[in-house]
Amino acid sequence: MPNRLRRLRRTENLRSIFKETSLDPGDLIYPIFVREGITEAEPIDSMPGQFRLPVSGVPEVARELREVGVKSILVFGLPQTKDEHATSSRAPNGVVPQAIRALKDTDPNLVVMTDVCVCAYMTHGHCGVLHGERVDNDSTLPLLAEMALTHAAAGADVVAPSSMMDEQVGALRFALNETGYSDVAVMAYSAKFSSAFYGPFRDAADSAPTFGDRASYQHDYSNARHARRELLRDEDEGADILMVKPGLSYLDIIVRAREISDLPIAAYSVSGEYSMIKAAAERGWLDERKIVLETLTAFRRAGADLIITYFAKEASKWLNAY
Ligand code: PBG
Repeated sequence: MPNRLRRLRRTENLRSIFKETSLDPGDLIYPIFVREGITEAEPIDSMPGQFRLPVSGVPEVARELREVGVKSILVFGLPQTKDEHATSSRAPNGVVPQAIRALKDTDPNLVVMTDVCVCAYMTHGHCGVLHGERVDNDSTLPLLAEMALTHAAAGADVVAPSSMMDEQVGALRFALNETGYSDVAVMAYSAKFSSAFYGPFRDAADSAPTFGDRASYQHDYSNARHARRELLRDEDEGADILMVKPGLSYLDIIVRAREISDLPIAAYSVSGEYSMIKAAAERGWLDERKIVLETLTAFRRAGADLIITYFAKEASKWLNAY
């Protein structure tokens, strides 16, 4: 008789003891948007359940996360002023440094990560300095390094360069080491693809480019080998964590990242993935709880250690209720 695989799937406890993949609130990172100059939280239309928060609203998020067992947060800033040099991205008392301090004051143990990219601080919405219509790599690097230093000075544990400039990881690592922040870790957005799944985020963060697109710096979604090169290069430049982004359509890239590196791998389940599930669930077309737990487990099964997800709070409540 051929082997009977169903033997191990017969009862709930059998299934439970043979489960190959775990999913815990501690695996999740919750992204937040903090906006300078507002006093009330603003709902984000394209991301139901998510808000642009005033700095004063940040402590409550830290408390909620601690309650459900989420240990880390990723902060995005929306400044009051933008220019051609992203000046507000380097302000020592800018919106992100303020948010970091508020988070650490509320819960010193919360792992505070920050996005390091200038798109939300530039009038033109591109992720680097423009020379004509070209995004210039090398003149962007010092801006990113300085931005990371202001986050480190405010108490960030992890800085995450997402602008997709070459050598951004090395530039940040060097600047942090030189300035006495050798303890601050770098999470590299290594395999960040040029993706339509970022649509709702650009609305949330008011960071859409005013002309053109990001294809000259973000990866082509047709390319897995090219992404692998960047993962390896970021490891060489001193990254502590490698990221794959978006998540669901890029599980194959997560598998490759896991195979080629022993660094922790983070998967970013981006705004479009969140909004698709929310929209379908609102119509009763999908069971939100089940679909979220299934997709988050899929990231873990593919090899991700950490998952950045807008569902972090809800998913943790569901996991804790099991
Ligand atoms: C900034 C940045 C983006 C996201 C994270 N950091 C937008 C972009 O590259 O256009 C997307 C996050 C999401 O969609 O949830 N460069």
